[in-house]
Amino acid sequence: MPENKTNENREVILEGKGVTKRFGGLVAVNDVTFQLYRGEILGLIGPNGAGKTTLFSMIAGAFHVSAGQILFKGKEIQNLRADKICSLGIGRTYQICQPFGSMTVRNNVMVGAFIRYPKIRDAEKKADDVLEKVGLYQRADAMGSELTLPELKRMEVARALATEPEILLLDEVIAGLNPTEVDTFLRLIMDIYRNEKLTIIIIEHVMRAIMSLSHRIVVLNHGAKIADGLPAAVASDRQVIDSYLGKEVPHADDK
Ligand SMILES: Nc1ncnc2c1ncn2[C@@H]1O[C@H](COP(=O)(O)OP(=O)(O)O)[C@@H](O)[C@H]1O
Ligand SMILES: [Mg+2]
Repeated sequence: MPENKTNENREVILEGKGVTKRFGGLVAVNDVTFQLYRGEILGLIGPNGAGKTTLFSMIAGAFHVSAGQILFKGKEIQNLRADKICSLGIGRTYQICQPFGSMTVRNNVMVGAFIRYPKIRDAEKKADDVLEKVGLYQRADAMGSELTLPELKRMEVARALATEPEILLLDEVIAGLNPTEVDTFLRLIMDIYRNEKLTIIIIEHVMRAIMSLSHRIVVLNHGAKIADGLPAAVASDRQVIDSYLGKEVPHADDK
């Protein structure tokens, strides 16, 4: 388990101020203010439809914000283009894996690498390097469509790592894996975190995973932040239990 570090004197690498997303009449993310400290693993949890993925999409530039600011190293990034935000150093995985099935695994990962390495040879080298890191190098020549779910999740992480992020946004990369695969994936995330000196926000329903990985946890419910604190404090928070933990846990793979 990562040690809990105090946040005093630590750099705020990412900050949200009153971040809001409306889809027509629906407020998917409602006035959310948060800080992310450099070197931290922040867990982002909440029921389905709480707004977690939408918040990631705004951070990564896939969605415009309806109101509020997002600051990366003190500079506003909300509403910049996704490729610009990626090149600044924020990489994400997608909850719904979106492999290019008719491309090899290596080429899938090169899609991420091109943002730093425009030359094919260099992008290839980067792709192989990150495939090695996520334990998928032996599948580099397989087609995206041939991968198993755990392999797809590794490829998603590899594609995000190939963009050389400072902040990695992981959206349910553990969901759907069996308990043994969950353990393997947890070790993989910790290895990457340590070796790449990353800052991570991780969305996950598997509580065992989120509790063991996260230094701190933010809880969303109906788009609003309802808790923000150390894992143990959040897990015993009455509002969090009533809105989420009491209903969602236990999961089949969370025993
Ligand atoms: N592109 C979209 N258009 C309209 N509504 C959306 C869109 N994306 C998400 N939503 C809605 O926003 C809310 C939050 O969704 P989401 O961020 O995916 O939740 P979570 O990831 O926490 O499960 C849901 O009610 C969802 O239906
Ligand atoms: Mg989601």
